[in-house]
Amino acid sequence: MERDTERMHLGVYAAGTGNHVAGWRYAGASQSGEDFEAFRRIAESAERGRLDFFFVGDNLACVPEEHPGMVARLEPFTLLSALAPLTRHIGLIGTASTTYCQPYSLARRFASLDHISGGRGGWNVVTTSSPESAANFGLDTLTAHDLRYRMADEFAEAVKGLWDSWEGGARIADPETGVYVDAARIHPLDHEGEFYSVRGPLNHSRSPQGRPVIVQAGSSESGQAFASRHAELLFSVQQEIDAARAFRRGILSRARAQGRDARWIRVLPGLMPVLGGTEAEARGKLDVLGRFVDDSAAMHLMSDRLGYDMSRYSLDEPVPDLPRSEHIHGYVDVHIARARKAGQTLRDLYNLFAAARGHAVVSGTPEQIADMMEEWFRARACDGFVLLPAYFPAGLDEFVDEVVPILQKRGLFRTEYEGTTLRSQLGLPVPENRYSAQRASGTGQVKRSRGATSAPTLHHT
Ligand SMILES: Cc1cc2nc3c(=O)[nH]c(=O)nc-3n(C[C@H](O)[C@H](O)[C@H](O)COP(=O)(O)O)c2cc1C
Repeated sequence: MERDTERMHLGVYAAGTGNHVAGWRYAGASQSGEDFEAFRRIAESAERGRLDFFFVGDNLACVPEEHPGMVARLEPFTLLSALAPLTRHIGLIGTASTTYCQPYSLARRFASLDHISGGRGGWNVVTTSSPESAANFGLDTLTAHDLRYRMADEFAEAVKGLWDSWEGGARIADPETGVYVDAARIHPLDHEGEFYSVRGPLNHSRSPQGRPVIVQAGSSESGQAFASRHAELLFSVQQEIDAARAFRRGILSRARAQGRDARWIRVLPGLMPVLGGTEAEARGKLDVLGRFVDDSAAMHLMSDRLGYDMSRYSLDEPVPDLPRSEHIHGYVDVHIARARKAGQTLRDLYNLFAAARGHAVVSGTPEQIADMMEEWFRARACDGFVLLPAYFPAGLDEFVDEVVPILQKRGLFRTEYEGTTLRSQLGLPVPENRYSAQRASGTGQVKRSRGATSAPTLHHT
């Protein structure tokens, strides 16, 4: 069995200026990636709609030509920690890079987020593909793609090991005896790998979710290999139902080959819903947004997505057969092949990237949008969606007020939250602590090894 629920999962990608590159120009739209009140409104609206999670991306460089929501943006941990006490149920997923951080500091930050939020933290693992970021961290060039993923693999193992440092019950805090911790239940990691050396233990007790949820959004071969080993939630880029179904099936079967239980993996493609009272009205909104995009911003966006300088081409030429670049995002190959097959121009391609950075866009009435979502979900092309409203706050409010009730009526989406942790919303079990598992099975000390891999047994809460 590869799915244990008939309810979809929904999250919102909170880009301060809206997900459409020109969303900030829409009447009444939020215009900044640093406006905390705007993010608070997004989180509150998402929670009102019973969404599973609030997601923030991140980058580590300022590129003025970039998507306006990414030129200046709040740092994810600061933002999510500030939102934690203002919300009660919604998961808080933040993006953090394995290339420009150490496992210990990252494990600690996410453990803190999980403690502060009462178990609602999630880590979107990225390896950071922008050359501009490398220059901000003392590197002359961007570390090669596959090497970044090799590093990320070891990094994630070390982080998971650190999150297991403390068994449940290790903090005794008995005022009578004066015993504060049971040191026998706090374990060093002693990780000595190819890229990282981490002694541990982490200076954090076991976090409310056992460990924060691991999220990933890469689609290259090495990105998928990483996801099949570590990710519990995949954020994918899909345009077509058949390709989405094949991607999901592929990830689940690769995960099974790693000894994982595929029931505990959620695959959520991004989706930009554009609502209207009629199909024409919805289409009109997209056209308004399209007219706001200027050609130079579009060229930059397209060059960034394709990993190739596009300024030598004219927007009205057919999509050329581009050489594969090592900076290219894995999913872009699919878009290029599709556009060439359909005889599209670069302008068509850039409209696709300008709208939702390559994610699917669906415009229409609330019923039509719900129909599309239902069709993908029932076809097992996905386990739900990451919503990318074109602009905030109205783009999300409309979805919550008009599409969510339809999905609820059809029994496809929750009417009340299942619990107070991100794992409970996603229907994911709490991973059992590796040392407690060893203790329970009576096999004594866990062997620590170079780059030890772990496949903790799982139990439900
Ligand atoms: C949906 C989606 C969201 C992403 N968000 C971020 C992000 O916020 N920050 C970042 O540095 N990279 C982000 N990435 C980039 C990926 O993490 C990854 O580095 C990139 O897609 C290249 O990996 P791949 O070659 O495996 O596709 C995102 C990618 C996708 C597909």
